[in-house]
Amino acid sequence: MNLSELKTPAELEDLYHPVMAEIKEVKRLSAMETYYRVELPGGEDLGHMPGQFVELSIFGVGEAPFSVSSSPTLKGSFELGVRRAGMLTDVLLRQQPGTKIGIRGPFGNGIDVEKFKGKDVLIVAGGIGLVPMRSMINYVIDNRDQFGKLIICYGSKSDQDLLFTDELAQWETDPSIDYHVTVDQGSGSWKGKTGVITTLIPGLDLDLPNTVCCICGPPIMYRFVLLSLKSKGMSDENIYMSLERRMKCGVGKCGHCQINHSYVCQDGPVYHYPDIKSLQEAL
Ligand SMILES: Cc1cc2nc3c(=O)[nH]c(=O)nc-3n(C[C@H](O)[C@H](O)[C@H](O)COP(=O)(O)OP(=O)(O)OC[C@H]3O[C@@H](n4cnc5c(N)ncnc54)[C@H](O)[C@@H]3O)c2cc1C
Ligand code: FES
Repeated sequence: MNLSELKTPAELEDLYHPVMAEIKEVKRLSAMETYYRVELPGGEDLGHMPGQFVELSIFGVGEAPFSVSSSPTLKGSFELGVRRAGMLTDVLLRQQPGTKIGIRGPFGNGIDVEKFKGKDVLIVAGGIGLVPMRSMINYVIDNRDQFGKLIICYGSKSDQDLLFTDELAQWETDPSIDYHVTVDQGSGSWKGKTGVITTLIPGLDLDLPNTVCCICGPPIMYRFVLLSLKSKGMSDENIYMSLERRMKCGVGKCGHCQINHSYVCQDGPVYHYPDIKSLQEAL
């Protein structure tokens, strides 16, 4: 390690020191997922990029990483979409506006939006993978003149599990967005497509050399989406993916998130596919 990279005790303490933030809004997204709008002291901006995450703590309970779901273009507060998974998320679910929580971050590399500018942007989001991808989608929507076509492929277990349904309805009717959605299994009232997310890819109208893709979803999805994109002719160079690993510190100190030489909390969670395609463990 370069000596100049060593942190002083004070700097290290800062990395671990949460800022006291306040939950401003809580909305149920589905049976398992809940939306939170969070404000930092004085309405200060989080200063994140799409794809980055925060470490959220509830005092006396614990801390866990969550992707920022809002675009950096949303000012004064930021948004999260949280699935009920265990102890912390269970307690979070019972919180109301006004609750104080700890926030560290933003952490991780996020999406290098400069590399996407001027290009058509293809987002492939499975299940809760829509939460971080929504940040990028809304970033593109709010900076429409800087990007080409926006193509969204979203897959969910069922129509009851679809997240941010008000926004999905807007994307569906927005003529500047090529929006596709499918569910593994539809309820009686579902009129849309059924089938796994990869069934959406063959029908996409892509300008391949000018399209960059970002994928985020459950671990099982990546291999099959990659195969579909390859058979469509998309080059590895144009593929980015956001990976999720168990994390503790979020700042490259504990090693919990390590895949071979890479710390997902720092080198990721967004990876350029050519950089990780040799890591069998990653995909
Ligand atoms: C970068 C990043 C971004 C994320 N973004 C989001 C997001 O936007 N929204 C969201 O809902 N979640 C997100 N997650 C996942 C989220 O961090 C976890 O769901 C959260 O930590 C759960 O905390 P908990 O205390 O509620 O659950 P836990 O009590 O930690 O349990 C969660 C589940 O994991 C199992 N488990 C616990 N410990 C282990 C272990 N050591 N090994 C294997 N399994 C274990 C439990 O049995 C349970 O099924 C993200 C994770 C990462 C790394
Ligand atoms: S979570 Fe500690 S090193 Fe990545």
